[in-house]
Amino acid sequence: MKLKKVMAVSLAAAMALSMTACGGGSSQPAETPAPTEAAAKEETKAEEAADAATEAAESVAEAVEGKDPAEIKVGISIYQFADNFMTLYRTELENYLVNELGLKKENISIMDGKNDQGEQMNQIRNFITQGCDVLIVNLVQASSEPTVTEECAAANIPVVYINREPETEREQAWVDEGIKATYVGADARQSGTFQGEEIAELENKGDADGDGVVRYIMVQGDPENVDAQYRTEKSIEALTAAGVEVEELVKMRGDWDQTKGQEITANALSQHGAKIDVVFCNNDAMALGALQAIEAAGRKVNEDIYLVGVDALVEAVENVMNNKMTGTVFNDYFGQAHTAADVALDFVNGKDVENVYMVDYVKVTTENAGEILELIK
Ligand code: BGC
Repeated sequence: MKLKKVMAVSLAAAMALSMTACGGGSSQPAETPAPTEAAAKEETKAEEAADAATEAAESVAEAVEGKDPAEIKVGISIYQFADNFMTLYRTELENYLVNELGLKKENISIMDGKNDQGEQMNQIRNFITQGCDVLIVNLVQASSEPTVTEECAAANIPVVYINREPETEREQAWVDEGIKATYVGADARQSGTFQGEEIAELENKGDADGDGVVRYIMVQGDPENVDAQYRTEKSIEALTAAGVEVEELVKMRGDWDQTKGQEITANALSQHGAKIDVVFCNNDAMALGALQAIEAAGRKVNEDIYLVGVDALVEAVENVMNNKMTGTVFNDYFGQAHTAADVALDFVNGKDVENVYMVDYVKVTTENAGEILELIK
């Protein structure tokens, strides 16, 4: 990403230089001797041609350079500031827009949707009235996308959705109807599969008590994000695909929240005790809560129980290194934030934008946790 941007900037600089050279050349005729009538006509023609060439060069330069980044106004609404993962994401998004793409901090407005779709809708309408050039929206409810897209399109403001994926049919509708909207995210199916594989790759395939069946509890995220559904499905699919017999003891919504993760796991442990082999959490915040409950119950991760999450929060990666979590999956918020910012500017500059961008997840186990920690710290 960085490299691509550097190349674009140097190309724009080269264009600007050659423009200056052309401009210098056009002052030449003033120094030539007084022209005859025919020669004067020729000269006018030449001047007209030169003007037309300059104009063409300018518009080409504009297309390449685009709008001055210092003038671009971006409106960003995050579904809820209290979310650990989205806090990392929004911090990186702002950092990249300012320090890499050259936007002014005061031209970037970042609002907290407070997990309230009505509140978020007001923020989006304010962005539209304020004349933002482009919006980056982490929807509270993915189902509100048609309304948001319609209002943005009516105001001719492009919108980049992040983190909570709208329906696939809607993503296709943007293409079919020529609407300037796109989604930047990561394919949650992949993260679920990676979680299941992390357990299946253990020597005992997650069967902590060795009774031939892997019994698990599933702590789910808020279903407003399809990540919750896919991670739930695909983690178990990967385990059964590896020939493991499974039994689900508990499946409950923890809404991506650490405290809820702790409560659900504590209740499950007191109800099912030693029967639980694996705790699957749809994200790391809930896995951190689950770990509190596991430790409080006197159980030991990687000895008599296994625990996996998703995101690669610093604390979770450290836990993987210290045998307090079996694994996690890096939800690359750097890649997602950079892509979202890049395509937002592409929209502003009239460049072609795809309807969906997916950034890869990365498995995090004891083998590579140190490297991942370097990357995120
Ligand atoms: C992350 C969660 C986060 C959620 C917010 C997911 O992709 O894994 O940690 O809470 O997005 O929508």
